Amino acid sequence: MNILIINGPNLNFLGIREPEIYGHKTYNDLVNHLLEYAEDANVSLEIYQTNHEGEIIDIIQDNYHRFQAIIINPGALTHYSYALHDCLKSVPIPSVEVHLSDINNREPFRKLSVVAPACVATIVGKGFQSYTEAIDLLKRGQKKI
Ligand code: DQA
Repeated sequence: MNILIINGPNLNFLGIREPEIYGHKTYNDLVNHLLEYAEDANVSLEIYQTNHEGEIIDIIQDNYHRFQAIIINPGALTHYSYALHDCLKSVPIPSVEVHLSDINNREPFRKLSVVAPACVATIVGKGFQSYTEAIDLLKRGQKKI
């Protein structure tokens, strides 16, 4: 199974940004952890990070045909990007939304995810495990088909 993983704005600053919320591990630690996990799970990943909304849309439009699913952490775009919602809806593969932190128990503006309706599941608040649970969920879904 090929999964496209996309990380949005400020996720490249993991380890630097608000460590009391996001922890001390870096973005490279996240990527290495996911690649190791995927190898054991027999899944192939391609992982992107960008701080630019339009670039996320370009990555999805240009590459979705090579993948069976998307895992996306849209960062703050989660809370207001209808363009990203529409993009995820536009492609014929399932997306899982993930967040490192528990967006339901932070500032009120984080409670709303405008991309959630375009995703088959949302996993929050489990750190790196939010992503690995998304991989497991997509793998299970693929077996059922
Ligand atoms: C985040 C949560 C968002 O609210 C925030 O803007 C981020 C990171 C998370 O992974 O917990 O940039 O998506």
